[in-house]
Amino acid sequence: MRKKVTVVGAGNVGANCALRIAGKELADVVLVDVVEGIPQGKGLDILQSGPVEGYDVALTGANDYAATADSDIVVITAGFPRKPGMSRDDLLMANYDIVRTATEQSVKYSPNAILILVTNPLDAMCWTAHQVSGFPRHRVMGMAGILDTARFRTFIAQELNVSMESISAMVLGGHGDTMVPLVRLTSVSGIPLSELLDEAAIDRLVQRTRNGGAEIVKYLKTGSAYYAPSAATVEMVESILKDKKKVLPCAACLEGEYGIAGLFVGVPVKIGAGGIEKIYEIQLSAGENAALRKSAAAVQELVDVLKQKTA
Ligand code: NAI
Ligand code: 2OP
Repeated sequence: MRKKVTVVGAGNVGANCALRIAGKELADVVLVDVVEGIPQGKGLDILQSGPVEGYDVALTGANDYAATADSDIVVITAGFPRKPGMSRDDLLMANYDIVRTATEQSVKYSPNAILILVTNPLDAMCWTAHQVSGFPRHRVMGMAGILDTARFRTFIAQELNVSMESISAMVLGGHGDTMVPLVRLTSVSGIPLSELLDEAAIDRLVQRTRNGGAEIVKYLKTGSAYYAPSAATVEMVESILKDKKKVLPCAACLEGEYGIAGLFVGVPVKIGAGGIEKIYEIQLSAGENAALRKSAAAVQELVDVLKQKTA
């Protein structure tokens, strides 16, 4: 039987996730959005690419969740994107209600699904979905680290004029200005980055990575990035559906790992058919550890606001 993925939010990220899932023939897809006609129209349009591109999946659009029943994975992208001058955190309250409703409805129809959160502020929205769903922590995860790492890899490859595929890197922490690119573990086909670039150049690339989302918002003016975000999300979907067990930086619910408890923070995890099958607790330097804790503190601030609101 074919797998089934629901994508909630048929906007820029959601529609591109649906397109990529169909293009890779990973699963049948149901697109859900509050705006009437949008998920139906985009779903049909993506479906009609099938004969040209050579894929066979069912792709439907809906404004309610009945059609999503028994999904293996639910990807939640519904919410407002960031506008110029707006931080990810400004999105908190606006997107909380959307993610709460999307989670309630999704788990009602797909109680065994794995939830992948994309909506910002990412780590706080993961916390929301985890609370609302009541799912075990291995079935709730967030996409951010793969995107942040992809940006870091891109900038390094451009700087060195080498293939992006040769760059191995890992960005941990929350999806915000406090994210933690692990320079010490970054290499170019095994050659430590510090042997190829001086400190000032590395700092410049780290800073550009931290501003990676804002850089694109500044260009687009009316929204935020969606091509790389959808590619990153579908890497997680694929690793689950094919049980690839990829080790990827994803937002996971920590329960004491890295000295952090009750928060979603980006860490290296193994992603397979069971969802998050392992959280890797790697040895960090004192500086890296301090940076991760600072990042977790920024996530905690948002979660505290949500706790007050929902008390
Ligand atoms: P978009 O505005 O293109 O699409 C959002 C869609 O959500 C719209 O079609 C809207 O009608 C829909 N929506 C709103 N309320 C809904 C509800 N209650 N139920 C179902 N659908 C609903 O925005 P875009 O660019 O797709 O971004 C979506 C979210 O993803 C934003 O919060 C953005 O900040 C976040 N994002 C996160 C990334 C990450 O790394 N975690 C990367 C890129 C975007
Ligand atoms: C990004 O990093 C908006 O979070 C999104 O592009």
